[in-house]
Amino acid sequence: MQLSERIGRISESATMAVTAEAGRLKAEGVDVIAFAAGEPDFPTPTNIKDAAKKALDDNFTRYTPAGGIPALKKAVVEWHAASFGTNYEPSECLITVGGKHAIFNVMAAMIERGDEVALPVPYWVTFYDVVNYHGGSVVRVETTEADEYRLTSDLYAAKLSDKTKIAVVNSPNNPSGAVVDQGEFEKIYEAVVARGGTLMTDECYCKFVYDGKPYSIASLPGAKENVVVVGSLSKTFAMTGWRIGFALGPKPLIKAINNLQSHSTSNPTSIAQKAALAALTGPQEEVDAMLAEYRRRRDYIVPALNAIPGVTCPLPGGAFYAYPNISSTFGKSGIESGLDFATRLLREEHVAVVPGEAFGTENEVRISYAASMDDIKEGVERISRFIQKL
Ligand SMILES: Cc1ncc(COP(=O)(O)O)c(C=O)c1O
Repeated sequence: MQLSERIGRISESATMAVTAEAGRLKAEGVDVIAFAAGEPDFPTPTNIKDAAKKALDDNFTRYTPAGGIPALKKAVVEWHAASFGTNYEPSECLITVGGKHAIFNVMAAMIERGDEVALPVPYWVTFYDVVNYHGGSVVRVETTEADEYRLTSDLYAAKLSDKTKIAVVNSPNNPSGAVVDQGEFEKIYEAVVARGGTLMTDECYCKFVYDGKPYSIASLPGAKENVVVVGSLSKTFAMTGWRIGFALGPKPLIKAINNLQSHSTSNPTSIAQKAALAALTGPQEEVDAMLAEYRRRRDYIVPALNAIPGVTCPLPGGAFYAYPNISSTFGKSGIESGLDFATRLLREEHVAVVPGEAFGTENEVRISYAASMDDIKEGVERISRFIQKL
């Protein structure tokens, strides 16, 4: 069977691959500490689950409009307005099968072969593969550990060209946790628009910001026409398995994605849409409680990682990832890369982390601290033991 050249440009998500390997070990009875999956360890809040049960009992089990039910679009734009002061209309909103689906569809609707997509590094693995899949070319915007992976307009503007179709910003960032300063965000926006590009802002972790107020570039007056927001309920409401995300953007783009969805996935699951509606319109206290707990864990794990000889890790401003530099282990006991480090750590100490190669860097691994405090303490101890016995 001959597969397409296009599909050859995409590989299995590295984060999913490590998670699968950790799952296999767990199934064999191995006591694995799971720091690999980017997934809240909290259950979905009860009011959300109840709404899904009610949807089932009400037989809300048929096709819905491909781009989502009107009530949910309205809820998304109202929630976004209340959170960030934006003024989207429901016709500028589309419901997708998770945030990934929104990203895939935006790229499908916009990228022509040879278009450039500017992507801050480290990047979340999916951006890279999806750009390539659609025939675009990734232009790396390098941030550095020395500057705590801070994305600045100077770094960004230097990488823009007249071929820039989309400029991606993901704040808080997966995998570094870095948050883009509002003033810099605005300057990045200006630079992208001056080049005729579109700014795609991935707000998947928008509610998990530790210092200051969460911000959306779409709230900048006049920015809406040149901005696409991709969002997700997965992390904010601990709803990873429900698969609900959204896109906010100019009507022609939303219409184009709607057409694509009508021939591919059709609607996101009807029951999950009702659950999402309850999530966005119901009490938000559990989101605040999750943020407080992530902060407690961050404040433990980052100093604990920095206390391991040879490990350095900036303090992330958001999300639930730490991105320590473990390159002092290279050249010891056959470890030459982040991938070697992660493979050996899983095999020898049963701690699952994702190698930095998945995010376009070589010296780091990503640790998701969306895990219980007990697991975090045990996991850090094992990492420390592993490094010190090399
Ligand atoms: C930066 C970023 N964007 C989007 C997503 C998409 O999440 P989902 O497809 O579960 O909504 C993720 C998930 O890990 C992510 O890290």
